[in-house]
Formats: sequence, structure tokens, C-alpha cells
Amino acid sequence: MQKEVDKIFSTTRRDFIATLSALGVSGLSSSPLFAQNQMPQRLIPSTGEALPVVGLGSSKVVSEVSSNGMDPLAAVLRTLRDSGGSVVDTWPRNPENDAGLGQVLSAPDLRNSLFVTTKIDKVGKEAGIQQFRETQRLYRRETIDLVQIFSLTDLDTQWENLQQWKEEGHARYIGVTVSEYRLYDQLEEFLGRETPDFVQMNYSVTERRAEERLLPLAEDMGLAVLLNRPFMNGAYFQRLQGVPLPDWTAEFDCESWAQFSLKYILSHPTVTCVLTETSNPHHMAENARAPLGGMPDTAARERMRAYIDQI
Ligand SMILES: NC(=O)c1ccc[n+]([C@@H]2O[C@H](COP(=O)([O-])OP(=O)(O)OC[C@H]3O[C@@H](n4cnc5c(N)ncnc54)[C@H](OP(=O)(O)O)[C@@H]3O)[C@@H](O)[C@H]2O)c1
Repeated sequence: MQKEVDKIFSTTRRDFIATLSALGVSGLSSSPLFAQNQMPQRLIPSTGEALPVVGLGSSKVVSEVSSNGMDPLAAVLRTLRDSGGSVVDTWPRNPENDAGLGQVLSAPDLRNSLFVTTKIDKVGKEAGIQQFRETQRLYRRETIDLVQIFSLTDLDTQWENLQQWKEEGHARYIGVTVSEYRLYDQLEEFLGRETPDFVQMNYSVTERRAEERLLPLAEDMGLAVLLNRPFMNGAYFQRLQGVPLPDWTAEFDCESWAQFSLKYILSHPTVTCVLTETSNPHHMAENARAPLGGMPDTAARERMRAYIDQI
């Protein structure tokens, strides 16, 4: 058995699931063997560092700092941390809001417990450098955990910048993002010639195209994968308004439509962490519970797709 366990930990994520099946257990089933109270973690392939599987997309709550103050942001971040999460995805836009984020990130109880990402969305080498310097200053961090190129903007120029910041120790990891199908071909072309640590893309039970090529490519290349748009920026909930959650979702411990989408996403073995955007601590806690308990197996995933497609 020990040999088999060693094998499990040395295999790729896809092989991991296959090996579990061969042993008579399914990593995606609601087996009590896999029931958990702690948020599960998955490994960043390039280093083996573990990341909790549910994170915060902070755009909305950070954009509200100038109108609502820093307390709502602090409450969501502490809920994430208290739920076992750490990943905070950010995107610099407004210096006043970003300074508020930096102040909250520097609180003694949060300073060392979050994995903070940022993005570069500028055109031109110097503009990218200026944006990163400003982010370091406002976030009060010399080193950012992950620096990403936003939606492949000025890709080749900014990729050179990111590589340099990683070499200099200002970025622990570097990556690129997309959130729309129209950028998939360009992303694939980029991945044909460069190997980032992370790739971020849109994927959910209602936006499944990443399953076809990008997720298998990320798996083959050994990239960490962040997922955005788990709720289509809120359109998912509008589409499901008044639709009852089917009883059979209890088979994999699903409490809500939010968890329905997150359990679908997280039962894909290539996903490292899903980013859920919210300014509501109760929603953060509900999202953070999604990976606990059972997860949908292959048959349940098929049923989830069929159910959503007919709504
Ligand atoms: N190109 C890029 O790099 C890119 C593009 C898009 C997004 N992203 C990243 O992905 C993150 C996620 O953003 P998204 O656009 O994909 O948003 P999303 O997470 O798909 O949806 C956010 C919406 O869902 C609601 N919500 C969240 N949890 C809920 C729950 N448990 N129950 C009910 N409603 C809930 C939120 O409202 P409440 O505030 O009321 O909870 C908000 O209106 C972004 O913050 C960003 O980090 C990156």
C-alpha cells in the first residue's frame, strides 16, 4: 500500500485520479475517506508549494474602499483567512483604493497569511515598470507572490518585465491571464513558446470551453491554474433566480448554487485555485466551504452539465 501511496504523490494530477480509481477509491466521490473540515490545498507544480483551493477575486471589494471604507475589505479577507484560504487576486486601478488594500494587507494578523497576486495591464516597458513600482509601494510589499499580465496586454513586452522581476526576487511567481474565449488562441500560442508558473482563465459549469484544450495543455506543461468567472461575474445567479437546487446535489454535500459551480470547477483535477469575487463575508465563507465534504464524480459532473444546459 505504501508503494501505491508514494505513486499517488509522484504522479500528475490526471494520473492521480486514475490511480485512485485503480485502488478502488475516487478522489472525486463523496467517500467519507475524503471528507474534510480544512480547506484542501493543491500544489504549485513549479515548486511544490501548497495553495488553498478557494481564493478571493478582490476587484469589487477593493473598488468599494473609497465609498465604503476598509472594514468590508478587511472582513472578507479575514473570513478567507479564517476559512483556511490565502489567495487574493488583485488588479491595480485606483491609487486611493489600492492604498487601502495595502493598509489592510499590512495588518499584523494578515501580513504573513495571504498569497497576494497583482496584474500589469499597461502598454510599454516603462509604463509596466511604473505600474509595478506603484503596486509595490501601495501594497507595501517588496515582493509580490504572483505577478500576471492582465488579459495578455502588450504580452511580449510585459513578459520580459515579469521575467526580470522574478530574477530580481520582486515576483515569486509569474503568469498570464485571460477571461474571454477570444483570447484562447493567443494564449495557446504563447504557451507554445513560454512556460509561466501560473495561467489564469475563465472556467465554470456555464463556461466550459477551457476543458477542451487549455486545461489539458496546462496539465501537460505543469502549470498552476487559477480560475476566474466562477459565477460569470454574477450573471450565473441571475440566470438561476427562482430555480430550486436539485435534491441530488446533496449526494456531494452541495448547499447552494454558488457551491454547485465551485464544486464543478474544483472537481477538475487540473485546477489549482478558483477565485470568487465578493464583498460579502457570508458569501466568502459559503464559497470557502465548497471544497469540503463530497465532490461530484464523473457521472455527477455530466448530470450537472445537462441540468444547467436546459435552464
Ligand atoms: N482578465 C483577468 O485577469 C480577469 C478578468 C475577470 C476576473 N478576474 C479575476 O477573477 C475574479 C472573479 O471575478 P469574476 O468576474 O469572475 O466574478 P465572479 O466571482 O464570477 O462573480 C462575482 C459576483 O458573484 C457574487 N457572489 C459571489 N459569491 C456569491 C455567493 N456565495 N452567493 C451569491 N452571490 C455571490 C458577487 O456578489 P457579492 O459581492 O454580493 O457576493 C458578485 O456579484 C476577479 O475579482 C478577478 O480577480 C480576472
